[in-house]
Amino acid sequence: MGIIILGIESSCDDTSASILIDRKILANVTANQEVHKNFGGVVPELASRAHQQNIIPVVDQAIRIAKVQKKEINAIAFTSGPGLLGSLLVGTSFSKAFAMALDIPLLDINHMHAHILAHFIEDEGKESFPEFPFLCLTVSGGHTQIVLVKSYYDFEIIGQTIDDAAGEAFDKAAKIMGLPYPGGPLIDKYARTGNPEKFPFPHPKIPDLDFSFSGLKTSILYFLRDQLKNNPDFIKNNKNDLCASIQHTIVEILMNKLKEASHKTGIKQIAIAGGVSANSGLRNALYDRQKKHEWQVFIPPFEYCTDNAAMIAIAGYYKYLKKDFSSQEVTPYTRYK
Ligand code: KG4
Ligand code: ZN
Repeated sequence: MGIIILGIESSCDDTSASILIDRKILANVTANQEVHKNFGGVVPELASRAHQQNIIPVVDQAIRIAKVQKKEINAIAFTSGPGLLGSLLVGTSFSKAFAMALDIPLLDINHMHAHILAHFIEDEGKESFPEFPFLCLTVSGGHTQIVLVKSYYDFEIIGQTIDDAAGEAFDKAAKIMGLPYPGGPLIDKYARTGNPEKFPFPHPKIPDLDFSFSGLKTSILYFLRDQLKNNPDFIKNNKNDLCASIQHTIVEILMNKLKEASHKTGIKQIAIAGGVSANSGLRNALYDRQKKHEWQVFIPPFEYCTDNAAMIAIAGYYKYLKKDFSSQEVTPYTRYK
């Protein structure tokens, strides 16, 4: 029998549980929270309540799908941060209690590292895995980082956003256009039939490998305000072109810095991770590079892009190998460390 890990993710608005045996996923169950849709963003108080309601059924279902006995589980891995404190506390408390009840080790996992380590999940038919060192563009709703990944345990941030994250840029642009939260996937959907060159938005001038997205939000806001004065139906009439142009701008900003990072480090193995790695524009831009034989690219399957517990379980697996266990005193943290 291999090593069996139960992974728990509750850092934002998805309650997720996964069972992994060695590097293979047996179950990955996620309860999305619909309550935030009407508020234009995640409401922390509602998120933690929903986690509290969802966590037991989600874990129960994962264990049933995986067809394992609780006593066969070797360790429990959970997200300890970064994220929303109330949300993290639910997963943390559950995991501590579960570990204590079964007398098994507890593994606290950094959510951003887990997004990257999802690349090492052994799915059927998957042939290639990144080799160290590689670069990973980690793009989510809360973070945008270029990470130099030196081992399963050694992550160096060589570039990051100085304000908004890429996912936030998508979501805020969508909100300005009157689209519901989270707007990223909707922009992606409408962009497919739009003209990406129709509305050129300015690129920020930020030194080194850092990013900035707050200026883009402001330029979209002012552009639409001016257009709506002349034509109140401007957004409705240009929805697809607007989405394609916004997406194109964000993808270009990300790709330019990624190219620079590859150039500076000489590394040509490039991975993407995090919710925004589900974006078809970004995925296609990377595939284009691969076709030119410049890079070997690693793009996660959709189920491991947005928040999920499978990535927590695989990160837990590597910590378990090192016997890097947490104590019952471990507490969650909100900011990346
Ligand atoms: O990693 P994630 O699920 O949660 C965080 O850790 O933040 O990322 C969520 C973010 C949201 O901003 C969402 O709009 C964005 O990922 N996202 C997308 C797409 N799917 C999710 N953005 C653009 N295109 C998509 N297809
Ligand atoms: Zn995430």
